[in-house]
Amino acid sequence: MKRLAILTSGGDAPGMNAAIRAITLRALQEDIEVIGVIGGYNGLLSQEYIQLTNATVDDIIGLGGTILKSARCRQMKEEHGPLLAAKALDAMDVDALIVIGGDGSFRGCSAILNHWQGNIIGVPGTIDNDINGTDQTIGFWTAVDTAVECIDKIRDTANAFERLFIVEVMGRDCGFIAVESAVASGAEHIICKEIISNESEFLENLVQGLNSAITAHRTTSYVIVVAENSLSKTAQELSHYLEQHTNTDCKVAILGYLQRGGSPVASDRVLATKLGVAAINTVLSRNSGVMVGTEHDQISYTPFSQTSYKNTSNQALIRRLNDLNFNLS
Ligand code: F6P
Repeated sequence: MKRLAILTSGGDAPGMNAAIRAITLRALQEDIEVIGVIGGYNGLLSQEYIQLTNATVDDIIGLGGTILKSARCRQMKEEHGPLLAAKALDAMDVDALIVIGGDGSFRGCSAILNHWQGNIIGVPGTIDNDINGTDQTIGFWTAVDTAVECIDKIRDTANAFERLFIVEVMGRDCGFIAVESAVASGAEHIICKEIISNESEFLENLVQGLNSAITAHRTTSYVIVVAENSLSKTAQELSHYLEQHTNTDCKVAILGYLQRGGSPVASDRVLATKLGVAAINTVLSRNSGVMVGTEHDQISYTPFSQTSYKNTSNQALIRRLNDLNFNLS
């Protein structure tokens, strides 16, 4: 093992830099040369990279975003993309590639492995926490903390005006950011895909619950945390619907990309460091085609083909809500 490449791909997540740092430092300890591909798979295809040294990664542990930049690469979804990526890796003379990203990025890794003999290891980096094979993804807890900070502020104005607030958080198709931020901020309600089997029934129950809460505690505010893409209605449309059915002022706050930025919280820095070191140890053991994660505080190894969370997310998330005794209606 002489030369290793790192790339960050998909939505950037706080803690990606901490992972780049850990991978680089651990690899240099083993006398492996490290290069950082700039701009995700796009940069790989155009062979754009920098040398990563102790000096480059010094002082990046607390930086948000990714010093290597990121992208969503259309070409990697086309037939020829993975083959071109394999050729680029050969041209760059690397023996191993470490990809920090989400399950879409890992599908790219699998596709490259159909054409390339080197080792590829994945490190889960996404705020969504929507990856199977790890209890947490790098960036998730920072995004939750950011959302909680915002919801706390929204609560102040909601209280002052006795208003109903819909706060939309990110998560793509997964409700984990919504669940954890709602619980931590004491929100009254959560809306996420995983708990909706019939949308109109769900909305009727929501209105009923709201109306009884409004009658029972006329002086309180009501905060609903909704995961993006949960309903066929936009947050604004939901707000109109609730105003009509509850006769109460309803306001919307979409937190959006705020959740992707900022300095990573300690738990994301620690997770990123742990997984970065594990990624190099995995490369050294000549293992390939897996994502390193952490399950029950142990390092876990999940084949790329099994990192998609879609099939298991319902149960994991509902168990979480049940454990917390959170209102599921
Ligand atoms: O996967 C991270 C994420 O921020 C999701 O929560 C969100 O749905 C998506 O990326 C936004 O993607 P883009 O940056 O391409 O707009």
